Amino acid sequence: MRGVGYKGDVVIVSQPLPADRREPLNLPAAALGAPAGAAAMAFAAGLPERLAARYRGRFARNFVRGKIARDPAVPAVLARGPHGHVLDLGCGRGQFSLALLLTGAADRATGYDIDAAKIALAQQAAGELPARFAVADLAETEIPPCDTVLLVDVLLQIPPAGQDALLGRIVAARPRRVLIRAFDPDAGWRAAFGFAMERVRRLLGGDLGLRGALAPRPVAEITQPFAAAGYRVEVAPCWSGTPLPNVLVLAERP
Ligand SMILES: C[S@@+](CC[C@H](N)C(=O)[O-])C[C@H]1O[C@@H](n2cnc3c(N)ncnc32)[C@H](O)[C@@H]1O
Repeated sequence: MRGVGYKGDVVIVSQPLPADRREPLNLPAAALGAPAGAAAMAFAAGLPERLAARYRGRFARNFVRGKIARDPAVPAVLARGPHGHVLDLGCGRGQFSLALLLTGAADRATGYDIDAAKIALAQQAAGELPARFAVADLAETEIPPCDTVLLVDVLLQIPPAGQDALLGRIVAARPRRVLIRAFDPDAGWRAAFGFAMERVRRLLGGDLGLRGALAPRPVAEITQPFAAAGYRVEVAPCWSGTPLPNVLVLAERP
């Protein structure tokens, strides 16, 4: 197990990095693309407001507006487009997929989540956009053909064996690109803060509440199946402006 090289500020992984090489990943959010080009224009054009207005109910509108305006994963994913047909796994209310469609960074979206209420909100907000949202359990669902797989803040909620099986099914589907926003359990004080926050979220009933796992994997275990399948893998912090231990894993077929 060893890291095989660095390019600029982004860690390039073709085999899992040992823990002592992963910890200093103190890189600027810009490493995987802060607002730039099309992404910056989308924000200038009022994307958070435009997208929020599609949702039914004040809570969903406020949630979506805040997520799109402040989550550092949004500009990072937008700037990595075009994404073609996006498969948004654990899509929640679908705001990632819809943001990509509204900005032209994706041409079609499919979203799966286990929460039927969120899926209903997502499908209603999609309106005329080429998006289909469906209730599915990622522990067992098939991965349909797509260009880009998104997994944002989902993996840690699935028990480890289910995570391995899911990553294996994604690799087998051979998408061109995979973007995973993951909780890095080795990120020092950020990880301690993240664990505390996730426990409180579960106690308060967030997402699956106490039914959901809290099983963040070492980042090297997430990148390993992609590197082994010949994907080029990059890992960079995705915590800009927050105390969270979030990293963005980008795997692309050469
Ligand atoms: C923190 S939310 C992230 C939602 C979305 N990706 C986003 O960025 O807004 C995690 C989502 O994963 C979903 N989830 C958790 N376990 C799941 C499973 N086994 N199958 C499908 N969805 C799951 C939850 O219902 C929740 O909507």
